[in-house]
Amino acid sequence: MFVRADKGHCIACHQLPEGIGPATRADLGPRLEGARMRRLGKDALRSLIVDPMRANPDTVMPPFGRHHILEPTEIDRLVEFLHALP
Ligand code: HEC
Repeated sequence: MFVRADKGHCIACHQLPEGIGPATRADLGPRLEGARMRRLGKDALRSLIVDPMRANPDTVMPPFGRHHILEPTEIDRLVEFLHALP
């Protein structure tokens, strides 16, 4: 889901830790790292994916939940995925 173009396509903007998914040079969004994700916590991650504009009205990150690009179960899986990153 993180890499699927018809779903999140998160890697268009975010890099993942080495060895997780394809290596990209995307730098529009911050590199996503496990320690940072766990510091944010699952609730903050979920709300960021549902609607990043609540945290930053000028963000270029699409509101995946509010625009129904992702199903709630898909967002749950992404939250688990991010939280478990190295
Ligand atoms: C069009 C580019 C773009 C796409 C696609 C995108 N993001 Fe983002 N994302 C950003 C930007 C830019 C930020 C920086 C914060 C801001 O702008 O408010 C961000 C911030 C984040 C953060 C917070 C990171 C931090 O350290 O605070 C998370 C988590 C995140 N994105 C997850 C995702 C996930 C999961 C997806 C796919 C479902 C995704 N993003 C898709 C651009 C994008």
